[in-house]
Amino acid sequence: MSDPNWPAFEPFKAKVIEKIPITTPSQRRAAAERAKYNLFKLLAREVTIDLLTDSGTGALSDMQWSMMMRGDESYAGAESFCRLEETVRRITGMRHVIPTHQGRAAENLLFSALLKPGDIVPNNTHFDTTEANVSAKGGIPLNLPCGKAHDLDDLSPFKGDMDLDKLDQVLTENKGKVPVVFTTVTNNSAGGQPVSMANLKATAEICKRHGVPFYLDCARYAENAWFIKHREKGYAKKSLEQIAHDMFGCADGALMSAKKDAYVNIGGFLATRDRKVKDRVAEIMVVVEGFVTYGGMAGRDMEAVAQGLNEGLDEDIITARIAQVARLGDRLTELGVPILKPAGGHAIYLDARRMAPHLPQSQFPGQALTVEIYLEGGVRAVEIGSVMFAHKDAESGEMVYPELELIRLAIPRRVYTDAHMEHVAQTVAAVNNRADGVRGMKFIYAPPRLKHFLAHFDWV
Ligand code: F0G
Repeated sequence: MSDPNWPAFEPFKAKVIEKIPITTPSQRRAAAERAKYNLFKLLAREVTIDLLTDSGTGALSDMQWSMMMRGDESYAGAESFCRLEETVRRITGMRHVIPTHQGRAAENLLFSALLKPGDIVPNNTHFDTTEANVSAKGGIPLNLPCGKAHDLDDLSPFKGDMDLDKLDQVLTENKGKVPVVFTTVTNNSAGGQPVSMANLKATAEICKRHGVPFYLDCARYAENAWFIKHREKGYAKKSLEQIAHDMFGCADGALMSAKKDAYVNIGGFLATRDRKVKDRVAEIMVVVEGFVTYGGMAGRDMEAVAQGLNEGLDEDIITARIAQVARLGDRLTELGVPILKPAGGHAIYLDARRMAPHLPQSQFPGQALTVEIYLEGGVRAVEIGSVMFAHKDAESGEMVYPELELIRLAIPRRVYTDAHMEHVAQTVAAVNNRADGVRGMKFIYAPPRLKHFLAHFDWV
């Protein structure tokens, strides 16, 4: 950040408000027990501050609501589609735009079109749905984060980068077996850390050399552009839209969950320069997702995405957002809570291992602390650790645990104030101060994929 005195306020004011539930400790204990200690199973009315995700949980602007009135609900060729297509083309420079109801639908469509069993899909770090969609098609998701990604204290500006040497090696050793390479901006599963333009350009160059298409998972591309502007040499004077354009310029295609940086409650798209990919996806999508000019969205949803994409590149809005997340990080650090540094664009990640070093990974320290944070102050966070990523090795049958045990406090866009964030900081600090007495957790039930959504737990 070139200016340490970030804007202290949001560039908007509230026009509509929603009352949030205030609960008692005994109500929260009963709710957690009923939810089998899986916070995805809590009812919203049982949660005071909901930091489960920044996905689809933001507040729409008055402009988005008014554009939604213009929603054209024609089955085919709706005006609303045209507005979305035009906006996506302008920002990405990609010709073919396919709307989908959310990000994972775009993943499913693209991998259905490109993957055959045994294919490898490298990514700086796959998000869990991306990983699951690759696996579901018989593919092998491969994470290639840069070396600094796993050092929680390393203050490098672009810890979301891809490991370029490893990527080159994987592509050299697996000719014909890698149908697409991905980079996720920002790198959600590795702390919401940004990817530099230099890294995107180098990844594109390596992919080109090996004749493999390069796609962006661009859910938080605008936040990534903000970090490039403020942290990478040569971009300070460029607009976020220009930087975004340069980022997309590195790629052959992109998948977007619009529920993040397009500031909507539902929506997504696939964009590509490759007509053949577009045609294959179109054939598949009419069976499972919807016609090519609505892809599972209503016309009004597409209007909200188009308008939201423009607002998502508003420098003042993103600056206020990233500043709010960073302030929460600073406050937690001040209160002695170990966090992943630097602060991510959309979330703060707590270091569960350091908070509760007495709990082995097999006892899910992140999950145990996440439940405690809810019990303490009605704050809902999400575990990003062994519940999400531990798995049995296919050959040895041994459990493989992830390097990091994190808890993500994802901040919805344009929703909470700093007073809410102070309550979050105090709640987490209280749990941190008594963490040595926290018991571990075990699965009572766990489905084979995406366990965190559906699993049941109990205390060890
Ligand atoms: N890619 C990334 C980087 C994501 O963070 C997500 C969703 C998706 C793809 C899938 O998009 O939810 O629209 O189907 N992330 C949410 C989260 C769920 O909480 O981080 P989706």
